[in-house]
Amino acid sequence: MSLNDLPKPAIFAHRGASCYAPENTLAAFKLALQQGADGIELDAKLTSDGHVVVIHDQTVDRTTPHHGRVRDYRLNDLRKMDAGSHFDIAFKGEPIPSLDEVFRAVGQLTFINVELTNYASPLDELPQKVAELVRQYKLGQRVMFSSFNPIALIRIRRLIPEAPIGLLAFPGRKGALARSRIGGLLAYQSLHPEANDVSPGLVNRVQRGGGKVFVYTVNREEDMLRLFEMGVDGIFTDDPLLGQKAAQEFQRKTANSRREIKQ
Ligand code: G3P
Repeated sequence: MSLNDLPKPAIFAHRGASCYAPENTLAAFKLALQQGADGIELDAKLTSDGHVVVIHDQTVDRTTPHHGRVRDYRLNDLRKMDAGSHFDIAFKGEPIPSLDEVFRAVGQLTFINVELTNYASPLDELPQKVAELVRQYKLGQRVMFSSFNPIALIRIRRLIPEAPIGLLAFPGRKGALARSRIGGLLAYQSLHPEANDVSPGLVNRVQRGGGKVFVYTVNREEDMLRLFEMGVDGIFTDDPLLGQKAAQEFQRKTANSRREIKQ
């Protein structure tokens, strides 16, 4: 499964099926696949001893009972933390996974959007370490990279030229430059705007330039349908079940209106 093989609209499970299982855990990624997600999205950052772990925040405070910055902990210490109970006691003991583990568990089963989240240490070795793992698991065709930081994308493209890059745009005015033609100078394969910033004009311009539009984070069915009607290529959602239901509903409606036009 490569970027161009994804269905349109593609449903990416945002941090896994994070509506039903603790975000960025193997439980959430495996559930996303069971629920029919077309791809998964995860957040990668470095530990103090140079391993890549999958966790969204810069600190462990929100998703574990511990405190402090991820990059100040070693992999072994992070692995002992309970990243499941904050979501539901049924997930007690669910660990923070390494990227290595995620690639091993589901790398050959789906398409993976790796967000490079070294925002607090933009010059660290995250791109090199991620690239080593992509090569080790031969996933160059099965991954794409996104980031709000264009420098991280330029660095990873040099390391893995075959893997697509997607530029994340912050919501509202803060993301205006990324969404503009200037953002397009990065020659990304996709733009990832926030749902409220998407317009038919933006979708047309990016697609005319050969790019795709993947929108975050869309959890309401009415928003999904509105975006599908605008022609977006995919969405990131915490609820891949709902995403698939909306995509099917959209395809049914589109097929019906084509039939009516023909008659
Ligand atoms: O990749 C889409 C989305 O994950 C970007 O926002 O805050 O979840 O990293 P955030």
